[in-house]
Amino acid sequence: MAEKFYITTPIYYANAKPHLGHAFTAVYADVLARWQKIQRKDVFFTVGTDEHGAKIAKAAEKAGREPQNFVDEIAGEYKKTWQALNIQYNDFIRTTSGKHKEGVLAFIKKIHEAGDIYEGVYEGLYCVECENFVLERNLKNGLCPDHLIAPKKVKEKNHFFNLKKYLPLVKEKITTGELKITPESRRNEILSIIGGGVPDFSITRENVKWGIPFPYDKKQTIYVWADALTNYITVLDFPDGEKYKNFWPADAHILGADINKFHSIFWPAMLISAGLPLPKNIFVHGLFTVNGQKMSKTLGNVIDPIDMVNKFGIDGARYLILSQFPAGEHGDIKAEEFADKYNSDLANGVGNLFERALTMMIDFRDGVVDVQKNVEEKIKFLAEKTAKKYENNFENYKLYKALADVFSFIKRLDRYINKEQPWILNKNKNEKLDEVL
Ligand code: ME8
Ligand code: MG
Repeated sequence: MAEKFYITTPIYYANAKPHLGHAFTAVYADVLARWQKIQRKDVFFTVGTDEHGAKIAKAAEKAGREPQNFVDEIAGEYKKTWQALNIQYNDFIRTTSGKHKEGVLAFIKKIHEAGDIYEGVYEGLYCVECENFVLERNLKNGLCPDHLIAPKKVKEKNHFFNLKKYLPLVKEKITTGELKITPESRRNEILSIIGGGVPDFSITRENVKWGIPFPYDKKQTIYVWADALTNYITVLDFPDGEKYKNFWPADAHILGADINKFHSIFWPAMLISAGLPLPKNIFVHGLFTVNGQKMSKTLGNVIDPIDMVNKFGIDGARYLILSQFPAGEHGDIKAEEFADKYNSDLANGVGNLFERALTMMIDFRDGVVDVQKNVEEKIKFLAEKTAKKYENNFENYKLYKALADVFSFIKRLDRYINKEQPWILNKNKNEKLDEVL
């Protein structure tokens, strides 16, 4: 039987339609999933939408809609965008679905039975757009740096997860490499957060009605992260589904740096508490900014991936999305440079090389070239080396590097043609023509 490979994207908040940042993660994961399929693995690839919590309720209210009706529409927008980008996912999980709610309750039950949930009072600042408690010292002029809104002071009864109990174990799994966090810089970031101490976190909220009721205290709803992270198993029909048995643990969670902490600390700790295996690799990419500010649905400084597909075609858009930055780094997006990049890399780069080569094969050899002829050693060597590097980069999730290598090979071939001048070889009836073509 084929080896399995389970890969996920985050489930995005259903507060607005997707932008380029969400498309980046989706395309990234899609490309990796396709690569694993080519390696003949049995791949399961999931995406979805995060539909509960105060942030969503607020967005629905602002739109003058009922939350369910609102998220139905936004989930539709996500599906439309993924279809436009040809994202070949196996399942799309929605947190308002019955199967998800059942799975969350089964998961929380295990954590509850392990004695890891306790009642307490939370007092502090909360950014509703992050759906997270924030620290005074991380604010910028009193505002959340990502969403530029003032967090609210809250004091309320919550049920907490006993994270402290699991931090040493999570740290050990990371340092031994049993739980891989890639790239290295993101792993170090997590180890330093753990080193600084992480307080227990709320897994329920009071006064948030739009969510899954907490079965052990009816006045509380399950807090977004305990609800959302669980999607990675509920999509597989946890606890009893065949897919859960076949595909869990995940081979790769793909996500942005903004939610590294939730995936690399909270999620593994909850899984250990529930007695479930940990994901194998958490791959964390950097965030796009626009003029230095994080691209965000809340701020509205967004690029619509569907506009890109309309302008550059599906593969053109996918190429532009993946070729912006090495995924480990943050980077500023300049939409006005897309057309230049498209022209220089795709039209004049690969397009021109292909066209040039084909035209000469047709004009000089009626489209029939003797492939038994030797290929120049240097070119052959470089082709093989590029292919090897490509494979290696894919195995290490370095898609930017993989593309960059292919494009430097293309430039090399252009230089080769210019140097060998097949049109002169043809004029002189030189035997070398077949070899060059
Ligand atoms: O955090 N650059 O959802 P979200 C690159 N529902 N990627 C970006 C980006 C940017 N500027 N903005 C968003 C949530 N992304 C939770 C997740 S998972 C169990 C729950 C991408 O809608 C990137 O993958 O805020 C980032 O991690 C994710 O969208 C956050 O999406
Ligand atoms: Mg966000």
